[in-house]
Formats: sequence, structure tokens, C-alpha cells
Amino acid sequence: MSTFLVTRTLPEDATEAALRADVLHGLNRTPKTLPPKWFYDAHGSELFEKITELPEYYPTRAEREILVARAAEIADATGARTLVELGSGSSDKTRHLLDALPALHTYVPVDVSESALTQAGQALIAEHPSLAVHALIADFTGGLTLPGTPGPRLVAFLGGTIGNLLPAERATFLASVRTLLSPGDALLLGTDLVKDESVLVDAYDDAAGVTAAFNKNVLSVVNRELGADFDPDDFAHVALWDAEEEWIEMRLRARSRLTVKIPALDLAVDFAAGEELRTEVSAKFREDGVRGEMAAAGLEMTHWWTDEEGRFALSLSMAR
Ligand code: SAH
Ligand code: AVI
Repeated sequence: MSTFLVTRTLPEDATEAALRADVLHGLNRTPKTLPPKWFYDAHGSELFEKITELPEYYPTRAEREILVARAAEIADATGARTLVELGSGSSDKTRHLLDALPALHTYVPVDVSESALTQAGQALIAEHPSLAVHALIADFTGGLTLPGTPGPRLVAFLGGTIGNLLPAERATFLASVRTLLSPGDALLLGTDLVKDESVLVDAYDDAAGVTAAFNKNVLSVVNRELGADFDPDDFAHVALWDAEEEWIEMRLRARSRLTVKIPALDLAVDFAAGEELRTEVSAKFREDGVRGEMAAAGLEMTHWWTDEEGRFALSLSMAR
């Protein structure tokens, strides 16, 4: 008999306090920034699912190709009984892992998006009658406490979401993931790879404008949660490749000089015409860099798999 349990690790007012702090800090500095986790209310999570189906957005298809080809090897190498997935979203690709892990006892999806977790969890228990699903509504950068479930534990972080953390945040995050692992446990990591600039920029600036809507959704979140008066039409979607940092940046560019009021913070924020607000970085990786970041976190990268076209990689790293 399957079970489905959802645990909120932080009260809702703590989430609102975190949004207030991020908006206050991020809009009062130059250049202005907001962290990407605020994209993902119910509408943002739906928009992300639409992005994964766009012809220009290859990462989801490329990662699925690797998972289909390598799920049995991942199962053999890990023998996982608990699968923890960080930023699990719809858990759609995860099904390939769930189907391949013969000894799996509990799946622990972790996400800030309650709507994504609830929808995914309900579908999964219908499909996997013997699986326990214990969903955590939590910020994966915030020091997780995981349920006491049987090991070995496999932590999956798919989709290239690690690229949405800045390098210093990534190092802190990987060190905190290492604390969740005992010897013999593993981290399965999806990383998008450095490639031709035009392919990358198109993936973040699609012809149908879905990524633009996703980018602007963060303004709607701030409007709804903090009573702000952003007009999304006042901003243009910008996606650019930073060749030095090897990351894509998404920005929102003010089309004219304007002032936004944010009553919950008693704040008025001025934008100059053309001023940009950075909403996301999406770092792209190389094999040596990933191996080095794993080693720095105390993990040994044992497998590196790419899709046929070499666009995306899945790596498996072990805690010793
Ligand atoms: N893993 C899925 C979804 C990727 S989208 C895939 O590969 O398709 C990124 C997911 O991470 C979203 O569901 C978002 O809600 C979640 N997320 C983003 N920042 C987060 C954070 N700080 N803590 C927890 N979840 C986060
Ligand atoms: C979730 N994350 C890996 C996506 C990415 O590609 O960086 C988010 C996204 N942003 C724009 N399109 C998709």
C-alpha cells in the first residue's frame, strides 16, 4: 500500500519573510537582482513545464535521453532504497529512475513549489503502489532535515538547476548535500554543458515567448505577495550569454524610467530607462569543473554520461 505525506519544513510566514528580505536586499542594490526561486508559484511551475516542451529548450529532452539509457547502471551502482530529489518539480523524468530502482522504499521530493509537489506526489502513488512518497516543501539551500528512511540514499538534483546557484552558493550547497550522505550514498547531478552561444541564447529566448512570461512571472509574485505595482509590460525579457562566467543571464529591462511601489516594504524603487534587474543565472559546465566541485565537497565522481549530441551531462558521485 503506497503512502503520500507532505511536510512543510518552514511556516508560510517564514516564506513571506524570506521574500521580503530578498526583495528589500535585491532591489535596493546596483545592479538589481532577485533570486530565481521566486519564479515558482503555481503559475510559474506551469510555465516551466511548458518551457520543457519548447523546441529550443533542449536540456529536458537531453537529460531524459541519458536517464533512459543509464537508469539501470545508476540502480546497479547505488542500490538506492531512498531517493531524495531536490527541486523535483513535476518529477516527470524521475519516473525513469523510480522504475529502474528495484529496492526503492521511499521517494522524498523536495521543492519550494507546493502545487508541483502535490500534483506530482498524487500521480506517483497511483503509478507506484508499493512506494512511500514523503514530500518536503523546503528550500534546498536552507539545511534540510530528511526523514529517517532506509539507506543507501541517492540524492538526485536534475534539470541543471545547480546552475541557477552562483558559484559561492554552489560550494556551500554541495557541502550541505554532503552532510546528508553517509559512506556508500550517492549524488546524481544533472548539468547543462557549455556549447554554441546561439543554441544557448535561443533556449532562454524562445520564439513563442514562454520564457519571457516565466521571467516576468516573478514580478506578478512580488505584486501578489507584497502588494507591489509592477506592470510586466513595462519590462522586456533579456537573455544573454556571459562567455567569461560561462553562464546565461536572464534579466528584465525597464522600457522607460519608472517607479514601483512595494507597500508591504514601505518602499518605492526607481528604475532608470534601460536599467536591468537580474532574475537568474544558468551556469553551463565542463566535466573537469564538475569533478573538481564534487571533490571540493568531499565527493568522488565515478560516472559521467552525456546525451548523444554532448549537450547535457548526468554525473554520479559517491560519498566515501
Ligand atoms: N527537476 C525538474 C524541475 C526543474 S525546475 C526538472 O528537471 O525538470 C526547478 C525546480 O526547482 C522547480 O520546481 C522549483 O520550484 C524548484 N526550486 C527552485 N529553487 C528552489 C529552492 N531554493 N529550494 C527548493 N526548490 C527550489
Ligand atoms: C530550472 N532551471 C535549470 C532552468 C534553467 O534552464 O536554468 C530554469 C529556466 N530558466 C529559463 N528557462 C528555464
